[in-house]
Amino acid sequence: MTFTVAIDGPAAAGKGTVARRVAAHFGFAHLDTGLLYRATGLRTLDGTDPVTAARALKAGDLDAEEALRAPEVAQAASRVAAIPEVRTALVDFQRAFARRSGGAVLDGRDIGTVICPDAEVKLFVTASDDVRARRRHAELTGNGHDVSLDDVLSDLRQRDARDSARATAPLKPAVDAVLLDTSQMTIEQAVAEAIAITDARKG
Ligand code: CDP
Ligand code: CDP
Repeated sequence: MTFTVAIDGPAAAGKGTVARRVAAHFGFAHLDTGLLYRATGLRTLDGTDPVTAARALKAGDLDAEEALRAPEVAQAASRVAAIPEVRTALVDFQRAFARRSGGAVLDGRDIGTVICPDAEVKLFVTASDDVRARRRHAELTGNGHDVSLDDVLSDLRQRDARDSARATAPLKPAVDAVLLDTSQMTIEQAVAEAIAITDARKG
């Protein structure tokens, strides 16, 4: 059985949290596709060419999650993600993951629009800028990063603007995506909504 749940949305909207919990509930595999761009961005910080970095990526590179979550890596990810050849280099891996047997949840920016336009479930998870900044700030400071709320907010806004404006696979909801605004929702409420929507499509 193949079954794909595509979850897109702006930075720190709760995509990963919802994706992980939906995957656990249904016994599906989960891929945070942001890690592909973060791992590529991380490699460019020492001067490596972005396209070379994307082509050389190995699944194991995604395991260095702590390093990949650093704020400067998020910015590098957003810059390399605007390069069409970088995106092309990462397509096959994502599509193979999506069609693996047993079901898969992928979260990112272009899963429902470009990577898996035929996904059985498409969600676009959003929340207000302020809510997203507060959540990401709590997460980063909890993990020992010394960042201000203002800096987190401007990082999110800068990345969202760049991700939405790029010509290739911009951040936008698929026409058939269900919108999930989690501004006023707890994690449990957002997850319950996503599970209910997925259940309905599973039939
Ligand atoms: O994957 P994405 O960047 O969209 O967001 P995330 O990493 O899943 O969530 C960002 C932070 O917000 C995490 O620390 C979550 O625990 C938190 N969160 C929340 O407080 N309430 C939600 N409804 C969803 C996420
Ligand atoms: O967790 P957060 O939402 O802050 O970021 P992420 O999902 O890890 O993505 C980091 C960056 O990678 C984004 O700002 C995008 O520029 C890029 N990205 C993308 O272009 N396409 C995807 N499918 C996933 C991430």
